[in-house]
Amino acid sequence: MKLISLLLLTLSLSYASVVTSYLESLSIEVKKEEPNFKGFDKKRGEKIFTSKHIGNKGKEISCVSCHTNNFTQNGENIFTGKEIAPLSPKTNPKRLAKLKTIKKWLRRNFKDVYKREGTALEKGDVITYILSKD
Ligand code: HEC
Repeated sequence: MKLISLLLLTLSLSYASVVTSYLESLSIEVKKEEPNFKGFDKKRGEKIFTSKHIGNKGKEISCVSCHTNNFTQNGENIFTGKEIAPLSPKTNPKRLAKLKTIKKWLRRNFKDVYKREGTALEKGDVITYILSKD
């Protein structure tokens, strides 16, 4: 029993440190451009996540199109039909746990919806939104 709680503690700490330190590095990036930056904002993140745009396949989509706006439920890739596991790190502990994975999918997914990479501000806001929801 003790071993299990120790393991869970270690897991939750390592999860927290990956996202937290990524958010910190993004905020350092934003501050270079905006010295008065006051922190990431889940409201701006919600808009980034839910607003529709003509994506890179010429179709109007948003992040919601594939992930839904309920991060405790599965989504579906609208292009391949493949199931996507929930985005919430509490429901799905594999989420936001690896820096390489976070960066790779944000880069790809911003291109899918916005036809460009996200800025440091946008990435920080949208992650803050995802973390605020569960
Ligand atoms: C065309 C479908 C699609 C769209 C649109 C989409 N995603 Fe994704 N997203 C995926 C897939 C596929 C994965 C990876 C599969 C998995 O991890 O289950 C993923 C993974 C992610 C992850 C998880 C990274 C991790 O650490 O596990 C995040 C965060 C994410 N997407 C954010 C976004 C944001 C923000 C947008 C809008 C800008 C967006 N997605 C739009 C399909 C999509």
